[in-house]
Amino acid sequence: MDLKKFIIDVKDFPQAGVIFKDITPLLNDVDAFKYVIDEFTNFVKETGANVIVAPEARGFLFAPAIAYAAGCRFVLVRKPGKLPRAVNDVEYSLEYGTGHLQMHKGDLRENDKVVILDDVLATGGTMDGIIKLCHKESNVDIAGIACLIDLSFLHDDALAKEYNVKTLITY
Ligand code: PRP
Repeated sequence: MDLKKFIIDVKDFPQAGVIFKDITPLLNDVDAFKYVIDEFTNFVKETGANVIVAPEARGFLFAPAIAYAAGCRFVLVRKPGKLPRAVNDVEYSLEYGTGHLQMHKGDLRENDKVVILDDVLATGGTMDGIIKLCHKESNVDIAGIACLIDLSFLHDDALAKEYNVKTLITY
């Protein structure tokens, strides 16, 4: 399916000079959303993963449906101050500066096989941070990385060299 027609470029959002990829038309189309969920569900099943890990906010739009369809647990990654219990924390690179990502301690367990899922892979800073966060729990395997949109001009191919990466739309 040609998914690019469901992604709208919005110039100068959220700030001047940025071209924002608006994925809401894809969520607003029954067949396109189903196609994405099915593709990623098959990928997750192929990897043998038993857990989906996804960050707020837009990873949350896809991960629960895929976790349900693939029979996996779903583990949330959130920005600081959102998770109520003890957390593992990681500093990660933003376009300008750094931020923090957090996961509840104990959400990932020994021998878990994880697929990390997000809507957009841009600089790769967020994905890097989530990988580090997953490894704060012992003996967790990153079985795959799934991103709806790959902005390939913004990152090198280090991630694809080390991990099983599945993307559906490339720019
Ligand atoms: C966006 C996007 C990815 C990340 C990709 O999230 O949803 O998670 O940026 O960028 P990177 O590869 O350069 O790290 P954002 O940080 O804007 O958070 P939000 O979805 O909560 O708005």
